[in-house]
Amino acid sequence: MAKLDPIAEFREDHRKIRDGLTELTAALQAKDVEKARRVLGKLDELVGPHFRFEEEAFYPTLRTFSGKYVDDLLKEHDKAIDMVRSCADLLKKPNPSYEETYEAAHSAQSLQAYVSNCDVLAILGERLEPKELKKLGKNLAAVRKEGVSLLRWAESIRIPRGTQGIIVGNFPRSEPISQDCRGQKTFKSPFTTKVVSSTEK
Ligand SMILES: [Fe+2]
Repeated sequence: MAKLDPIAEFREDHRKIRDGLTELTAALQAKDVEKARRVLGKLDELVGPHFRFEEEAFYPTLRTFSGKYVDDLLKEHDKAIDMVRSCADLLKKPNPSYEETYEAAHSAQSLQAYVSNCDVLAILGERLEPKELKKLGKNLAAVRKEGVSLLRWAESIRIPRGTQGIIVGNFPRSEPISQDCRGQKTFKSPFTTKVVSSTEK
């Protein structure tokens, strides 16, 4: 497995999420439902491994620097998951109203604050020991390889709220969770799959 620089990759993910949210906001504002579905599908697949890496590895490691900040970011994850779920439900409708897509655009835009707030952690990450960075790089590579989308992860794998990030400097990836993931391998975003099949018809 290739060695990853976890801090550089973490920041690069944020750039992609920022650009995806910008694209999603514009598509929703224009009521371009097909495009919004495609972009949301990509975001779902990108953000799944990113959040999983943060909650299972990065945030717990950074608790030594700022536990309160990590708690706030976990709440922002809850909001982001709710937004993606609501948006996915909305985009399942054949013809959502302008009011609905406008409201969804507003929600998508509001998540840009998460991107900035989370990216701030990079400056703390730079203070981690090389062995911790190596562990983080391995974790990031592993969750990317498993490739579980955000909604699938939130529904079936995410550690319950109130217990995330409690284990400092150790990844709370219990065997049952890893085995579940290996058993089910590469999940695809439900709405990406839907878009592809509807385009092919
Ligand atoms: Fe993040």
